[in-house]
Amino acid sequence: MKMRFPENFLWGGAISCAQADGGYLEDGKGIDTQSMRYFNPKWDRKERDENRNINMTSERFTEALNNDSQMNYPFRHGIDFYHRYKEDLALLEEMGVKVFRTSIDWSRIYPNGDDATPNEDGIQFYIDLFTECRKRNMQVFATMLHYGIPVNLVTKYGGWKNRKLVYFFERYAKTLFERLGNLVDFWLPFNEINCNRFNPYNGCALIKDQEENYDQSIFLAGHHQFLANAFAVKVGNEILERPMIGGMIARFTTYPATCKPEDVMQTILDENYKNYFYTDVMARGEYPSYTKRMFSEGGIYLNISDEDRQILKENTVNFLSYSYYMSMITSVDPSYEVTNGNLLNGMKNPYLETSEWGWQIDPIGLRISLNQMYDRYQLPLFIAENGLGARDSVEQDGSIHDDYRINYLSEHAKQMAEAIEDGVDLLGYTMWGIIDIISCGTIEMSKRYGVIYVDLDDSGQGSYKRKKKDSFEWYRKLIESNGEILI
Ligand code: BG6
Repeated sequence: MKMRFPENFLWGGAISCAQADGGYLEDGKGIDTQSMRYFNPKWDRKERDENRNINMTSERFTEALNNDSQMNYPFRHGIDFYHRYKEDLALLEEMGVKVFRTSIDWSRIYPNGDDATPNEDGIQFYIDLFTECRKRNMQVFATMLHYGIPVNLVTKYGGWKNRKLVYFFERYAKTLFERLGNLVDFWLPFNEINCNRFNPYNGCALIKDQEENYDQSIFLAGHHQFLANAFAVKVGNEILERPMIGGMIARFTTYPATCKPEDVMQTILDENYKNYFYTDVMARGEYPSYTKRMFSEGGIYLNISDEDRQILKENTVNFLSYSYYMSMITSVDPSYEVTNGNLLNGMKNPYLETSEWGWQIDPIGLRISLNQMYDRYQLPLFIAENGLGARDSVEQDGSIHDDYRINYLSEHAKQMAEAIEDGVDLLGYTMWGIIDIISCGTIEMSKRYGVIYVDLDDSGQGSYKRKKKDSFEWYRKLIESNGEILI
């Protein structure tokens, strides 16, 4: 098949502020919740994986507040993008990247989240960064919240379960639209909004031992995030000339383990529970009917007012995006082998290979999910993240041969082309971690996604110098040929 991508298809790359920026507490930045996550470079693979899903505790939180180590808190140094972004964007321009996705650090704009006025130095950083993107012919795709919130919003308000955060977020969004609106093309109020459920510290800033009813707090926090998302859409529609404000989830594409009707039904429930609940609210503007049973059986009680329902209904997103890394299977039979995945572990599909981190590699799952999402919502789609986390080795001559990554990316790009042929309206693709960054799940540097290598190890040691991997030239050609090299 001829790989056809629309002429204006947006090939791009994505990173997030906590994983990349560094510049910890510089220029008025406040402390954010991601820089509180502890990592020990001596942990082995098993310990890293175990700590990935560990909930934040009050003890760990207090310890982090009183500890100024960067080595044990890698999100404090990232890859020093804060100081090196010009060099990084020059490399992206060399590849012909058309859109750059990053996130804005709430604690650079409002250091405490509830400050009366924004931090002008923080705003200036983003004006400079996005202007530089424009100079280098890149559109800007900005996420307002990629997990990290100002720590004060946790210590003083208890995180997203407190409705006051809806107001603080709306004000933050308004500031961003007013001050950066002319420099940004695509907005996402929330990265992977369904993460609030699967990693409640990252997703909605809850500390488990401080919650009487953890599940109830998670859904309440989730409701507040839906409202915050809707208010951001409302304010954006009022302020922006051409608002493109999207909703995003981490897409857990799920297949039935067998054709047994029970397994097929379980798949429908899982898809609703993990994925569609979130996109249904953001795109259709109401809690779907299946949530009634989900909530009553889960003992969740949300007192949703008519005003809340109205704000959700009137302020739906105008595109949808998601991260896609892997798929999983599901069954009513609990005896299936389980393997790691993004945010969630899942049952193992015997037809798929896994990455070293256990994530099941499934390019066709991307085509499947694109068809499912487009068919359900008929809204333009954007693949906001996709990529392979792998260990890279630098040869003596400095080269990095990452055929495995080229293979992963090209197989997924082929399936995007198929989905476009199927009729899906796909706006673009920002491959994840285009420059190596700190892993979000396991907080390590050795899990690399980039086509650009960063000389940095798990203890934070290294020159921070950037190097091109083989995939750099491959991605340049892919963009230049608009996918024709995939044939
Ligand atoms: C996504 C997150 O869920 O997965 C990213 O939005 C993250 O922040 C990505 O980096 C890959 O996960 P990990 O754990 O390999 O970094």
